[in-house]
Amino acid sequence: MSKTKTSFFCQNCGTQHAKWVGKCSACGEWNTIVEEVIQKEEKRNWKQTSTAKKVSKPIKINEIDTQEEDRIHTHNKELNRVLGGGLVKGSMTLLGGEPGIGKSTLLLQVALSIPKNILYVSGEESQAQIKMRAERLNAKNSNCHILTETKTQNIFASIEELQPDVVVIDSIQTLHTDYIDASPGSISQIRETTAELIKFAKETATPVILIGHITKEGTIAGPKILEHMVDVVLQFEGDRNYTYRILRAQKNRFGSTAELGIYEMQNTGLREVENPSEILISEKDESLSGTAIGATLEGMRPLMIEVQALVSSAVYGTPQRSATGYNIKRLHMILAVLEKRAGFRLGAKDVFLNIAGGISVDDPAIDLAVVAAILSSNEDVAIPQDYCFAAEVGLAGEIRPVNRVEQRILEAEKLGFSTIIVSKFNKIAKKNYTINVVPVSKIEEVFTKLF
Ligand code: TYD
Ligand code: MG
Repeated sequence: MSKTKTSFFCQNCGTQHAKWVGKCSACGEWNTIVEEVIQKEEKRNWKQTSTAKKVSKPIKINEIDTQEEDRIHTHNKELNRVLGGGLVKGSMTLLGGEPGIGKSTLLLQVALSIPKNILYVSGEESQAQIKMRAERLNAKNSNCHILTETKTQNIFASIEELQPDVVVIDSIQTLHTDYIDASPGSISQIRETTAELIKFAKETATPVILIGHITKEGTIAGPKILEHMVDVVLQFEGDRNYTYRILRAQKNRFGSTAELGIYEMQNTGLREVENPSEILISEKDESLSGTAIGATLEGMRPLMIEVQALVSSAVYGTPQRSATGYNIKRLHMILAVLEKRAGFRLGAKDVFLNIAGGISVDDPAIDLAVVAAILSSNEDVAIPQDYCFAAEVGLAGEIRPVNRVEQRILEAEKLGFSTIIVSKFNKIAKKNYTINVVPVSKIEEVFTKLF
C-alpha cells in the first residue's frame, strides 16, 4: 500500500521544499509555500498499454532527418506568423492570457479551420456551449471533435481511439492525473499533466496546444517550469476597452519571438488584421499637436506608447510641471536640456505630460517621444500620426542609442508606421525595412525634421 506523501511547493517558482517556510529560498517570495499531496507510484507512460520503455539512442547530428514539411499550417496567417510558419509536429504550445480575452475563441477557430482530425478538449465549457460558440464563428470542420474531460487518462483513451492530428487542451489548470492526489490547478498537478502531455506529443509527433490561465501579475499560473517545459509560449493580450488583440510569442523554439499577430474581436469571432495601421488610424480623426508615439520595450515585449504633452504659459509665477506615467525628475532633466542645449524657452511655461492608457514607462527609449510631444505642443504643430520615436536623450542634448532597436523597428513596421526616428549611433544591421528609419544625433535635427 502506498503511503500518502506530501510536500511543499512554492506557488511562484515551483521549488519543492522539505518543510513549510515563510519565504521561498529560491525566488524570495513570501507566503507562497503550499502543502500539496504527492503520491507517486511508479512513473507511467501516457499510454497505459505500452509498458516497455523506449530507450533513445544517441544519433549523429547530420544523420537526424528533419523535413521541411514537419509543420501543420493553421489557416490562420497571424498565428502561423507568430509560430514561425505553423505548428511543428510533436510540439507543445502554451497560450496564456487574461480571462475573457479570447483564448478559447482563438483556438476553437483554429481547430475549426484546419482540415484535419482535431481533438478539442475542454475542461471549462460543455459540449453544447462550445457548439454555440462554433456556430457564431461559422467555420466548418466536420473533423473537429469536442471532448469535455479533465482526467488525462480518459483524454488519452479518447486520443488512442480517435488518432487526432492536433490536440487542443482548454485549459491545463483544469486537468488532473490519477497518479497525483493534489487538486487540479496545483503546482504538482500542472507539472505532472504537462509532463504526460509532452511525452504523448513527442512520442506520437502530434502537436498539442494548451491554454493556460494567468495570475493577476500577468504571468501564466502554475510553476515557472511549465514555461520551460513547453516549446512555445504565446501570450494573448489586449485592452478590454479596445476590440483588438495582440498575440505574441514569449518563447519559441522554432521561430523568432519578434513577430506578433493582431486580431480584432468581432461578434463572429476573431478577425485577422492584416494591415494594423487601420487600428491606429481609426483611433483619432485628425492630427493633434502635443502627441507623439514612442517605441518602447516592456520587459521582452515591444509596445508602442502614446505620449501627450501640454505646454502653456504659466499663469502663476512658478511654472508647474507634472508627469503621469513618466518620471518627473526625468521630465525636469529633459526640459533643462531643451532650454540649455537647444534654446527653447520653456522656463516660464507649464508643462504637463501624460502617458496614454494609464501605463507607466521606465524605458529611456521613450525620451525622444517625450521631447517630440513637448516641442509639438510648444509649437502647436502636429506630428504626423504615422511617425514614431525610439531613442534616449542625453544631458548634452545628444540622441543616444537604445537596446534592441531592431525589435522596435520591426514592431513599428508591423503596426503600420511610416517613419521611425532613432539615434544615429544605433547600429542597425538589417537594412531592408519597409519603414523609413531616420537617424538623428541632436535635438535640433529632430526639430528641423519634424517642423
Ligand atoms: P473566450 O474565448 O471565452 O475567452 P477566454 O477563453 O480567453 O477566457 O472569449 C470570450 C469573450 O469574447 C467574450 O467576452 C465575448 C467575446 N466574443 C466575441 O466578442 N465574439 C465572438 O464571436 C465570441 C465567440 C466571443
Ligand atoms: Mg476560455
